[in-house]
Amino acid sequence: MKIAIGNDHSALEMKREIKAYLEEKGHEVINFGTDTEESCDYPMYGEKVGRAVVAKEADLGILICGTGVGISLSANKVKGVRAVVCSEPYSAKLSKMHNNTNILAFGARVVGIELAKMIVDEWLNAEFEGGRHQRRVDMLMDIETR
Ligand code: RB5
Repeated sequence: MKIAIGNDHSALEMKREIKAYLEEKGHEVINFGTDTEESCDYPMYGEKVGRAVVAKEADLGILICGTGVGISLSANKVKGVRAVVCSEPYSAKLSKMHNNTNILAFGARVVGIELAKMIVDEWLNAEFEGGRHQRRVDMLMDIETR
């Protein structure tokens, strides 16, 4: 799978570890994040990954900042993005099964690396269930057109 990854300065080490973890599993990772610890602004990274996913340059996106909040909010401003911020695997899994999320975010200052890997695994391995959830996702996306 092709995965776009983005991060700000607070998540540099976490990004590196998650990128390596994904590559070990055979995924192709496109890095849109910062690669220095110099303070930077998360909205540009959320937007870059959001646009890459919507343009289908990547199948899915993963975003990491201090809390996962700012960077997921930024991605969600891009039409077509359904980004979720998760600190535990259950919501990550259900966000794919029911909400067909296309971007996962988490906080490098919130979760440790092992929990982050578990969240990523549950999210990547889950599949959208469609059916009644498709109707709700359609309703959700329709909000963008009004
Ligand atoms: C940066 O200090 C921090 O505000 C950012 O990484 C993120 O947590 C924002 O939501």
